[in-house]
Amino acid sequence: MSSLTIPPPAALLRPLEVPNRYLFGPGPSNVPPRVLAAGGRPIIGHLHPEMYEIMNDIKKGIQYIFQTENNMTISMSGSGHAAMECAVFNTVEPGESVLVAVNGIWGERVAEIAERMGANVHRMVKTPGQLFSNTEIEQAMAKHKPVLFFLTHGESSAGLCHPMDGIGDICQKHNCLFLVDTVASMGAAPIFMDSQKIDILYTGSQKALNSPPGTAPISFNERACDKMFNRKTKPVSYLLDMTHLSNYWVHYHQLCSVYHHTGPVSGFFSLRESLAILAEKGLEESWRQHKELAAYLYKGLEDLGLTLFIRDKDLRLPSVTTIAIPKGYNWRELLVYMMKNHNMEMTGGLGPSIGMVMRIGLMGYNCKKSNADMALHALADALKNCKKSKV
Ligand code: GLV
Repeated sequence: MSSLTIPPPAALLRPLEVPNRYLFGPGPSNVPPRVLAAGGRPIIGHLHPEMYEIMNDIKKGIQYIFQTENNMTISMSGSGHAAMECAVFNTVEPGESVLVAVNGIWGERVAEIAERMGANVHRMVKTPGQLFSNTEIEQAMAKHKPVLFFLTHGESSAGLCHPMDGIGDICQKHNCLFLVDTVASMGAAPIFMDSQKIDILYTGSQKALNSPPGTAPISFNERACDKMFNRKTKPVSYLLDMTHLSNYWVHYHQLCSVYHHTGPVSGFFSLRESLAILAEKGLEESWRQHKELAAYLYKGLEDLGLTLFIRDKDLRLPSVTTIAIPKGYNWRELLVYMMKNHNMEMTGGLGPSIGMVMRIGLMGYNCKKSNADMALHALADALKNCKKSKV
């Protein structure tokens, strides 16, 4: 007689089923077969020499896409949120002042993360899609004297690509670190970590990089390293402590296989492959393709009578396009219709933009005219078939 009181779950005795979908939302996006195949390669040990070679290739790929020479360049074992927490936990100590630009969900997240670790958080708040001028940023910095200033480059909840020029200089003048989120924009819109004087930059694997979710490139310059390696208190997270992560990623030659945590071996294979694809294509070509396809999509959306949420086309995020919810329609019904009838994901807003926008993401592997045509066709069909209210 079995000693088990819990039987094997019936669900697990059935084969895994995963549908094939058009992932035309803000991410994850569809993953190219080459990247999927890389993730399916045999597992090796996370501390084997071949793995360090692969991690070194990843580091070089991140330096390329970030346009940085920073030695302290790694990938987190975790999603963009892990990178976000790593940046804040390592560079800020409890009680220190942090300034956060909030014009969508990502600023809200960073503010909450910084509050949870005991920072003194100051929010500059605007409605989704609005910009912060350099003057406003400098005034807030002079007032709050933060050690860290956070700004989102590609605000996926609003479809905004925030200008970066001059902000790094302001941060340096006020002895403040400049932290930038490029999860939704990396590879799709230009950003230059070193020349724009960004001290800490991170992204995620699952957007224009087209890797599976679960790894997140991040880089720290010398100013950031100075601050985080000369702190009085230990960071609140052991997993995200850069003292350990730098031994794992950057100083492993000296220390030779120091165990900290077991990195996501298959995720790193995929990430290396997606960085290789971007290196082969070239960053500037990738930016050009995203911009060109976005312009094509904008025209198609306007031809359908839809209104783009970000009015100034130069401020639109090329990877994620936001549409004002068409008058009289229930946006949830439109999304459900497209999923059901076209097997296609688009999404509504996120955080403060919920109820304001619908979002279409065409990035990396999905950045193709045929996909834009398919998305426009599905939207036209949904607008025709979903009931419009009388009001
Ligand atoms: C997630 O990254 C989103 O923008 O929905």
